[in-house]
Amino acid sequence: MDFIEIAKKRYSVRSYKDKKVEEEKLKKILEAAHVAPTAANLQPVRLITVQSKEGLGKIGKGANLYGAPLAIIVCADHKKAWVRPFDKKRTTDIDASILTDHMMLQATELELGSVWICYFKPDVICREFGLPDHLEPVNILAVGYPNEEAADPERHSQTRIPVEELNMSAPFSSAEKEIGLQ
Ligand SMILES: Cc1cc2nc3c(=O)[nH]c(=O)nc-3n(C[C@H](O)[C@H](O)[C@H](O)COP(=O)(O)O)c2cc1C
Repeated sequence: MDFIEIAKKRYSVRSYKDKKVEEEKLKKILEAAHVAPTAANLQPVRLITVQSKEGLGKIGKGANLYGAPLAIIVCADHKKAWVRPFDKKRTTDIDASILTDHMMLQATELELGSVWICYFKPDVICREFGLPDHLEPVNILAVGYPNEEAADPERHSQTRIPVEELNMSAPFSSAEKEIGLQ
């Protein structure tokens, strides 16, 4: 599968089989996170990989994992954050999300399903996992074998805005008209 095939194939899986993710596959997913870029290569991201019933139960107090057998809590380490000097913007969310996306797409390539989760109670996750103040859970990636029909890889013409609207600099795009470039 080339990159665009993997990107099109990925969809949010919200029902999982009761089947563990193999150690080899988890290793590859973590390797994909490991090679992800971060601002100034400061690497202000830490992962908590959860597969035990007890750990998944802890996450379940603050998030819906849709029955996934593996969850990766992606945390930003604010002690290591890069800060843009002009406006003090911190790039921790961006860094954490690039790692999350790498892992999500690697999971797809391995025939695994996943769903990116931001709808969770951060205070509950921090408490249940005893996270220090400088570690902020940003995303949770739920991973496992899908127990539902796969979404159509060609669905994006229906489920996304047109590429001409996305790319505001495309000639004759409606977005360009909107922002007064024409
Ligand atoms: C930053 C982010 C946060 C998300 N949070 C959640 C979430 O908390 N729960 C959930 O079920 N899906 C969540 N999603 C999945 C999106 O709803 C989903 O990607 C989007 O509807 C497009 O559908 P698709 O992934 O099937 O292509 C999130 C996705 C992103 C990128």
